[in-house]
Amino acid sequence: MSSPAAPATAVPSKALKGTVKAPGDKSISHRAIIFGAMADGITDVSGLLRGADILSTVGAMRSFGAKITENETGTWRIEGVGATGFSSPAEDVDCGNAGTGVRLIMGAAAGYDLKARFTGDASLSIRPMNRILDPLREMGVSAEARTTENGEPGRLPVILKSSGDLKPIDYRPPHASAQVKSALLLAGLGAKGTTTVIESVPTRDHTENMLRAFGVPVDVKVAGDGNHISVTGPAKLQATTIKVPGDPSSAAFPIIAALITPGSDILVENVMMNPTRTGLFDTLNEMGAFLRADNFRKSGGETIADIHVKHSRLNGVTVPEGRAASMIDEYPILAVAAAFATGKTIMNGIGELRVKESDRIAATAALLSENGVTVAETKDGMTVTGSAGKAPLGGGTVKTHHDHRIAMSALILGLATQNPVSIDDASMIATSFPTFFDLMASLGAHIER
Ligand code: S3P
Repeated sequence: MSSPAAPATAVPSKALKGTVKAPGDKSISHRAIIFGAMADGITDVSGLLRGADILSTVGAMRSFGAKITENETGTWRIEGVGATGFSSPAEDVDCGNAGTGVRLIMGAAAGYDLKARFTGDASLSIRPMNRILDPLREMGVSAEARTTENGEPGRLPVILKSSGDLKPIDYRPPHASAQVKSALLLAGLGAKGTTTVIESVPTRDHTENMLRAFGVPVDVKVAGDGNHISVTGPAKLQATTIKVPGDPSSAAFPIIAALITPGSDILVENVMMNPTRTGLFDTLNEMGAFLRADNFRKSGGETIADIHVKHSRLNGVTVPEGRAASMIDEYPILAVAAAFATGKTIMNGIGELRVKESDRIAATAALLSENGVTVAETKDGMTVTGSAGKAPLGGGTVKTHHDHRIAMSALILGLATQNPVSIDDASMIATSFPTFFDLMASLGAHIER
């Protein structure tokens, strides 16, 4: 069920000033809940993102048998199923808007003897699931999925049946995808023998790091044909304590707001600096941004830092295609920064954006052209022609297509355009960044709801 549409408008704002803390990382939050639910014993999680996507994952894990509570200080306690294993949920497992949630949970569930029916909202229901289901079928899982009216197979609802006794496989995903890698490694825990995922391009390594924190060895061999990542089953997770670091993908929004709004000078604290996630910061540095990461420290096994940002004159760049995986969720907001740069910013090799919460190439191109920015779209990329520091026209109303990152990107654009920028619906922002409006207001951003 989706919430009623809630339009919002960003109004050209004065210089942004102040210090804010990045909210908990969405990828790590999903994993903390899922791994804690599978583990033997009690896992305490602090700093969890309280976003709608994560709450869907909490609901799903409860329906498989885990006991999960939140205490008054915001710490989450998970009593995992351990040796009992997941049991078949009595109701549909509704994963809401969360692609990471549904794909990782299907992988985790495959390792147990159960039957479950997975559903999601309008956006999730048209996203491809065969990228997970095909290799799971090779491992011995039975999965029935819907084919859309346009003949696209592998969509939710999915009915998954497993005996929990899986065959280990070696698998090279056709797309760079941490979700596919993670789902197969989780299923591999229920297989007898070694399951290996071979990645030509490295993707975020949170599953590998967190499985180790839960006591499961993960072997990574770097070879000429890519990274070979293996787990050997049957393997059990042992409960642990997790501190969730701040999300660089969410930090991107206040950071780019400061870069494009004249006179801004802000500090964003608690940003995870895992190199599989920081491609946007490398790109902004190449564009000439004032972006200084400082106070590096360890939190929950990840390096975090505080990022000082000032309004900057940006130059267009060509983003290396090999960097895509490390900034895959940041292209819409990078395109907003590119709208203010001098010259063209060329983004290619990002066809995967077409199967995110929305078709993010089309939605970003529409967002910009609706507001007077020149943008050219190709099959697997886009090129933005910047305004050389001059404020773009703005004044448009952007269709968000149930996509939180499109919604936030449009509102950030509207802080520095000549005229306000509106969006048709802001409700989806709560999936990944429920504190977005308060956090932006605390910096002086003028966004009306
Ligand atoms: C994620 C992986 C990425 C990313 C998503 C989170 C994860 O998806 O876009 O927001 O937590 O593993 P893909 O694996 O489909 O690229």
